[in-house]
Amino acid sequence: MRNYRIAPSILSADFARLGEEVKAVIAAGADIIHFDVMDNHYVPNLTIGPLVCEAIRPHTQAPIDVHLMIKPVDSLVPMFAKAGANIITFHPEASEHIDRTLQLIRDQGCKAGLVFNPATPLSYLDHVMDKIDMVLIMSVNPGFGGQAFIPEALRKISQVRARIDAYQAETGQEIWLEVDGGIKTENIAAAAKAGADTFVAGSAIYGSGDYRTTIEAMRAQLAT
Ligand code: DX5
Ligand code: ZN
Repeated sequence: MRNYRIAPSILSADFARLGEEVKAVIAAGADIIHFDVMDNHYVPNLTIGPLVCEAIRPHTQAPIDVHLMIKPVDSLVPMFAKAGANIITFHPEASEHIDRTLQLIRDQGCKAGLVFNPATPLSYLDHVMDKIDMVLIMSVNPGFGGQAFIPEALRKISQVRARIDAYQAETGQEIWLEVDGGIKTENIAAAAKAGADTFVAGSAIYGSGDYRTTIEAMRAQLAT
């Protein structure tokens, strides 16, 4: 069985108690903190920046997975690295120089990844696989938590899984495959079957009364 990781998105957390909310999901069994950055330009919503990343950093040892939904990208990369990010992903169509941005993220000591919206072609992976530590497939259009999972994303996840496996067999490079948007206990197994190994869940975890029960239910689905 694959090594599965659950990454609660703090977008659905109580922002007045963010430090506690971060600690609570990790204590409840989550692996990674997913941190959604929106700029009201690349996506029609506005969220949080490096200051908030820095503020939550002392509250957990878990990796912070910064999902940049911003355009342009590069100027904020060093700021997030300095604020304690461990993984930084961006949308390729939001960067003028994708290879340069990936390199910049790694140069700052973070893992680097590309994010694909439902209609973004996978051809953006073509010449940069060597600089990628994670591929993130969006199963909603980015901008808001609580949207419905787009089933067509499963086909895309399978395609990326095949590419990653072939590349890993050839080079030995480890690349994580994350899915983000509308993930719930009811569909997490389908996403895993398609090939995802890292699961972002915002409303399904933070919107539930009991984080531990929800995360355990998700893990039970992954074990089937
Ligand atoms: C959407 C964000 C997601 C979002 C997921 O643009 O990238 O990370 O918070 O929230 P849910 O799990 O509620 O779809
Ligand atoms: Zn996200």
